[in-house]
Amino acid sequence: MTVRPPSLRGTLLLWLLLPLLLIAPVAAAIQYGLILRPALKAFDRSLGDAVVSIANFVRPGPAGVAFEMSAQTERSIRTAQDDAVYYVVLNPAGDVLAGDPPLAEPRLRLATDEWQFYDAQLFDQPVRVGARGVACGEGVCQVRVAETRTSRDLLRSDMLVAIGASLLLVAVASGLTVLVATAHGLRPLQRLSQQLGARSLDDLRPLQPAGVPTEALPVVEAMNRLFERVQAGSAAQQAFLADAAHQLRTPLATLKTEAELAMLQPHPPALAAPLARINAAADRAARLSSQLLALARTDASARDGLPLETLDLKALASACVDEWVPRALQAGVDLGFELHPAVVTGQPFLLRELLGNLIHNAIVYAGAGSQVTVRSAITGGLPVLEVEDNGPGIAAEDRPRVIQRFQRGPQATGSGSGLGLAIVNDIARAHGAELLLESARARPGSDAGLRVRVVFAAAAGLAPGAATTAD
Ligand SMILES: Nc1ncnc2c1ncn2[C@@H]1O[C@H](COP(=O)(O)OP(=O)(O)O)[C@@H](O)[C@H]1O
Ligand SMILES: [Mg+2]
Repeated sequence: MTVRPPSLRGTLLLWLLLPLLLIAPVAAAIQYGLILRPALKAFDRSLGDAVVSIANFVRPGPAGVAFEMSAQTERSIRTAQDDAVYYVVLNPAGDVLAGDPPLAEPRLRLATDEWQFYDAQLFDQPVRVGARGVACGEGVCQVRVAETRTSRDLLRSDMLVAIGASLLLVAVASGLTVLVATAHGLRPLQRLSQQLGARSLDDLRPLQPAGVPTEALPVVEAMNRLFERVQAGSAAQQAFLADAAHQLRTPLATLKTEAELAMLQPHPPALAAPLARINAAADRAARLSSQLLALARTDASARDGLPLETLDLKALASACVDEWVPRALQAGVDLGFELHPAVVTGQPFLLRELLGNLIHNAIVYAGAGSQVTVRSAITGGLPVLEVEDNGPGIAAEDRPRVIQRFQRGPQATGSGSGLGLAIVNDIARAHGAELLLESARARPGSDAGLRVRVVFAAAAGLAPGAATTAD
């Protein structure tokens, strides 16, 4: 079972809607009391008006109480928009003088001018009754007017709908506000995490706090402090590596010179083999230290931004090949080149290191009798540096692995440390270039031959199309 982390949006919604849910009934009761009660009172008042106008027709006389109302007046009293209106006039004894007899019940005692309003049932309908005591001679007559409750019920239900609708509107509006506000408020954080996600491993520049909400600023600041510490740590590590590698060069060079000198001196035959091994080990150690130096410099360059120069891959490759021809000859490898101008912006030291590693690998792994070709050209609009050999190549499934530091191929021979291709890859990346390992000859069922291509992002300082080769 996975536990989902609490969502800010959900928490806010909950904390907003819960109180709203509690407040809603109170708010509804207040609205109800403040608006409905006065409105119902107004209904009672108009009921009272009808009572008063009927009471005007009650005339006490010597021959008892008389009640005379014109038919027209009666009609006007009985006419209401949605309701039926009934009335009754009672003499002091409670007998019906006029109107609707069922309304005479229940019996009420009312003083003169005393009012009473009550709910009752009349002709099987709920009604509201207004009753008043009217002075007639010795006793008190009564006038009662009843009205069905249709208008009142309509008002009540309209009122409830209005209250419900307004509360619902408030709830929905607040919910939407929370959703929109959190989406809006979290956008800077999303931008920040995209920024972080798109970063390469060694990109430790501080995050830009612009646009980040104040509440999230401490997180950004803490991360930036962490970046600073990590960067300082890795810079110190690289500086140490570079120093150590650099310091190793002189004693290693001395060791190698001395070993070569000793081999040239007359020496007992038993020493020949050990001296050759010392020489080879010194070679290997020198190569390793220069590779470590290259790694440290690549890291530092990637971190601080490369001090870039505009340079031609053709010149660079040509110098490199010249340097490696003697080693190739010694190894029985035919080292050739096909060089076309291809200008890039880059770091000559690092690019020479890159090419040197590729040529070295080709010579070592393709071996005696093989052909190695170094190429530079603009291909498909992009500057490309390429080293191809017709040796055993690298199986496709091994290619991603051998690029990693200290990883060697399954059949790797000789004295390598597995750093060469890692350095090549680092240097390519620091230049924004792409490293591609391909089979040199695409023969079905065969991975024979390796072609390593370094494709730079864009040509620099060359007119488009200039010096572009057909391939
Ligand atoms: N030109 C090549 N032909 C065949 N295999 C190669 C070639 N270049 C590199 N490899 C393989 O890739 C592995 C990694 O190369 P590299 O990183 O230079 O380390 P190292 O040369 O020290 O072993 C090598 O061990 C080898 O197996
Ligand atoms: Mg190598």
